Order: sequence, then structure tokens, then C-alpha cells
Amino acid sequence: MDRIRIRGGNQLNGEITISGAKNAALPLMVCGLLTDERLVLSRVPRLADTETMGQLLAQHGIAVDSVSDDGRTLSLGGPITNTEAPYDIVRKMRASVLVLGPLLARTREARVSLPGGCAIGTRPVDIHLKGLEQMGALIELDGGYINAKAPNGLKGATIVFPMPSVGATENLLMAAALASGRTVLANAAREPEITDLCDCLVAMGAQITGIGTDKITIDGVATLHGASHEVIPDRIETGTYACAAAITGGELHLVGGRMDHLGAVVRTLAEAGVEITETATGLLVRRLNGLHGVDAITEPYPGFPTDMQAQYMVLMSVASGASMVTETIFENRFMHVPELNRMGARINVHGKSAIVRGVKQLSGAQVMATDLRASVSLVLAGLAAKGETIVNRVYHLDRGFESVERKLAACGADIERIPG
Ligand code: UD1
Repeated sequence: MDRIRIRGGNQLNGEITISGAKNAALPLMVCGLLTDERLVLSRVPRLADTETMGQLLAQHGIAVDSVSDDGRTLSLGGPITNTEAPYDIVRKMRASVLVLGPLLARTREARVSLPGGCAIGTRPVDIHLKGLEQMGALIELDGGYINAKAPNGLKGATIVFPMPSVGATENLLMAAALASGRTVLANAAREPEITDLCDCLVAMGAQITGIGTDKITIDGVATLHGASHEVIPDRIETGTYACAAAITGGELHLVGGRMDHLGAVVRTLAEAGVEITETATGLLVRRLNGLHGVDAITEPYPGFPTDMQAQYMVLMSVASGASMVTETIFENRFMHVPELNRMGARINVHGKSAIVRGVKQLSGAQVMATDLRASVSLVLAGLAAKGETIVNRVYHLDRGFESVERKLAACGADIERIPG
């Protein structure tokens, strides 16, 4: 298993190009199931998760061809030949469950492995299933699989989500695009990745209003056609590199970074002493004087993203004063805390909140990545720490961050991958 070695203390200066958003690219790739015509997606990040999604779609019959030299433009298409999403692929990536709605809408049947638990919490799919049942699907759980049928096709319905689930909103949006009649999704998630999905569906011929709000209305159409669509830049990668600039005291130009997708992060970082300004092509980030402790609470968009919680906590670990970081989306998303404490951070967890008491400096250590966002937080900690940090189990990092060591090294970080 590969590891990453970092010798901390270098300031980061320079330019980083932000990749396409993983969480946008995955549902957009699933849209390949909604038409037999070609769907061309550009700025797809080259990640383990997009690779896994390509494998999943391929075994459903959808060819995923790379049509640009850099491998970031994909052309998807082909008839659906198999409606089963097997355990071996779904267990690697929870977003695989997004094929359920489109398969049901296109073929009236689907058999999809239950994604099960994961390190950051139980993460059920009950909201996805209940919504599809309201649209007329018959669903049984059997032997770890979701067996779903819609003998009379899916029908529009009014679905009020008990909480704004990103995945459930996406699954039902795609199903509703091809259902008969009108579907209303209320208390829907409003993340920019959902807006990106709506924009692509509209380009494919879907009829959707209320895009970007928590009430989305979809009037089903009989067929969707091919389209070309560019994936939005990754707001979590942007926020992560903003933290890297702040923690090392340098200045980074994040090309492609979008202020309008980062509101709560920009406001919180500004209070903590980090200046983020818009340029013609992205965002410029630099630390002003010192960093100060500022509380943050994770919430559905447009609130502070749970996917930035671990990275922000690293920043708070070296800020002056104390701060409270509260996680409201996932119940077990503090696994980075013991690892950060091994590097000299002073963090105590009390239920949903972590009290972070800033220290002058972190010190390098051997640490273990436990999930995607936690693993990049350990890289950030390593950049700020005195001495050498080795991050083990970096396959988590490779699921969601494109070329992290190359991008950071180009800006002056002493970082390398040790193949293993
Ligand atoms: C997506 C993101 C993930 C991000 C999360 C929250 C992708 C591929 N992943 O995950 O990076 O951290 O949004 O912003 O886009 N829930 C249920 N029942 C369900 C569905 C969800 O109880 O059927 C709960 C979850 O356990 C969680 C909350 O709802 O507590 C939000 O989860 P959700 O928004 O669905 O997250 P994902 O779509 O899995």
C-alpha cells in the first residue's frame, strides 16, 4: 500500500489548478444510463472513484471511453444490458447506489447491492428507497441486495424528504426525469453538485424547474438524448488547498476555484484570519497575520460542508485560542482526531462537538488515513508539522483527490509518494 511522506514547514506559494468535482462527476456519469445516445463529460477528475464508476457502468452495458489526451473527457453510451450492481463494486463506493433510480426508470427493474455501513457512520439508503416506492416501485431487501421493480413504470409523486440527502435527491431527480407525470422533491438538497446534475439533465432534454432551491419540480419526458457537459470545479478540493495556504503561511492561486460555491467556508476562514479574493480565473488565498480560533458547525449546503470539517480542524489546531467544531451530518466523523492528537494537537471530542485548543506547532508522526476527507487533513497537518510525517493507507486519498502530492510539491511542499 502506498504511503505519503511529508517534511513539514515549507510555505506554499504558486498556482494549483482545481480538478472537476468528484461528487458532481459521479452522478453525471450515471446519467449515461438515461439515454442510448452519447453523453460527453469534460473535466472529469482522474480518481479511483471515477474509475470505479466507469467499471460499474461498463458492467451495465454502458461503454465509457476516454476521448481526450488528458483522459478527462469521457464519452458514455450504449444500451443497458444488465440491471444488477454487484456487491464487489458497490462496497468500494457508496455512490454506486445512484444507478438504482435510472435503471428502474429505463428498464423497470434493478438489483443493487446495499452499500452498508462505512467508517463515517451507518449511512442508510432508506430515503432513496422510500422516494422510489412513492413513485410506484416495489422494493424488497434480500440477501444484502435491493430488488426493485416498477412493472407499470415510475410515476410522478410529491416527495418530502425528512432531511436533505444529497444522494437521495440525485437518485430521485434522475428517476423522475423519465417517469410519467410530475414529481416534486421538497426539502431537497441544494448542493452545487445537484445544480450541476440538473443542468446536465436539462441539456439532455429533461424538464426541471426550481433548480438550486430546496423544491425541485420535474416533468417527466419519454426519452432523453445525448449532450455535452462540463463538470464544475471541486469546491472541497478548493477549500482544502485554501487551508493549505493558510496553514503554511503562503499564497496560493486556486485556478478554477469558485467563490459562489464556497460561501460558508470563505466566511469562516475570513474570521479566522485568511483572506480569499476573486481573480479573473479563480481565487487567491493568503493568511493575513495570525490564525484565530473560530467555531464551525457543519450543515447541508449552503452551510459549512461536512467534507471540509477535518481540514478546518487542522487549521484550528494551530490557531491561537480555542474553537468548537460541531458535526451535524454524520455521527462518526471525528476519526482524524486521535491521529491529529498523536501529532501534538489538543482536541477533545464531546458528542457531536470537538473542542480544539490551538498549539504553537504540530510535530510529524506516522499516521493512518481512515476516510477520504480525514486522509487529506493528515496531509495538511503534515505540511504544518515540524519534522517528518508518514500518512499510511493513502488509497482513501486517491479516491477523491487528484494528484495531491504533485499539486502540493509544485508549490514548494516537500512531499512524496512512497509506493508500497
Ligand atoms: C454526499 C457526498 C459526501 C458528503 C455528503 C454530505 C457524494 C458522492 N457524496 O454523500 O461526500 O459528505 O453528501 O454532504 O456526493 N441519510 C439517511 N438515509 C438516506 C440517505 C441519507 O439517513 O437514505 C442520512 C445520512 O446518514 C447522513 C445524511 O442523511 O446522516 C446526509 O447524507 P447524504 O446527503 O445522503 O450523503 P451522501 O449522498 O451519501
